[in-house]
Amino acid sequence: MAARADEAQQIEIPASFPSGADVAGRRVVLTGAGRGLGRVLAHAFSQAGASVALVARTVTDLEKLAADLPGPSLVLAGEVTDEAFNESIADAVVEAWGGLDVWIANAGISPAVGGPRRTDPAVWREILDVNLTGAFLGARAAARVMDEGGRIVFTGSVLGERPRAGLAAYSASKAGVVALAKGLALDLAEQRITVNVVAPGWFDSPLVEPWKQRPALGEAVLAHTAFGRWGAATELVGAYLFLASAAASFVTGTVITVDGGYLLT
Ligand SMILES: NC(=O)c1ccc[n+]([C@@H]2O[C@H](COP(=O)([O-])OP(=O)(O)OC[C@H]3O[C@@H](n4cnc5c(N)ncnc54)[C@H](OP(=O)(O)O)[C@@H]3O)[C@@H](O)[C@H]2O)c1
Repeated sequence: MAARADEAQQIEIPASFPSGADVAGRRVVLTGAGRGLGRVLAHAFSQAGASVALVARTVTDLEKLAADLPGPSLVLAGEVTDEAFNESIADAVVEAWGGLDVWIANAGISPAVGGPRRTDPAVWREILDVNLTGAFLGARAAARVMDEGGRIVFTGSVLGERPRAGLAAYSASKAGVVALAKGLALDLAEQRITVNVVAPGWFDSPLVEPWKQRPALGEAVLAHTAFGRWGAATELVGAYLFLASAAASFVTGTVITVDGGYLLT
């Protein structure tokens, strides 16, 4: 007991603790920024005082978003499966803002709904290429220019932990993202760069539109979400802000699931 009391006395309480959402001044790359969840994340980081490099293929989406944001941004249109493009993103951010603090690999696709015989191997490769290889190439580019304290965040999915019929390729890509994050967290620990995953449940966005068009599938989603509703993209931003903030300095190689209880049911 006496030893424990001594230990407690040695803990110094700082005058202020880091806020779990303070990203002011952070220089952020955000892929998949053009619409859906990424668009909301761009607003969240910009409103919080970060500079945000907006990445997607459709330049008009990015230009409109950049015009709407309150803070500094860059428009970098391209393909996340392209190694050279990822390296050029890192260079552009360093040139514009003097460094890179956070890379959020959020671009993702889910085009195939069907079993193995209905999933064209070319589509399988495309899903793995964008969702998994894109995340790897982004992290690889980030690690080249990031200093100590850098943050890499991948967007995963609850389907990476609990696949659904017809979505095997997507589920495999998102399970891969978790293993990738854990492996890179070990590789980059020496550089004091953290690597984590945010795994959303079911959120309203253009990506899930095909599910909503099929009432039976949409109902299955809701039946398995403990909260009984789709998530709003605004409910997802806190996890990303936290992982990008100073408060998460000792959080690495882990998954934050934001799913209204989907994985519980
Ligand atoms: N919505 C959900 O319920 C949900 C649930 C779990 C996980 N997620 C994940 O969350 C992330 C965002 O999903 P979302 O719902 O916001 O999807 P979304 O509305 O379809 O938006 C996807 C974004 O990624 C960009 N993108 C797609 N392929 C790209 C590529 N090859 N290179 C560069 N950019 C690319 C798209 O723009 P361009 O097409 O113009 O390139 C778009 O800006 C994805 O990783 C998705 O798997 C979503």
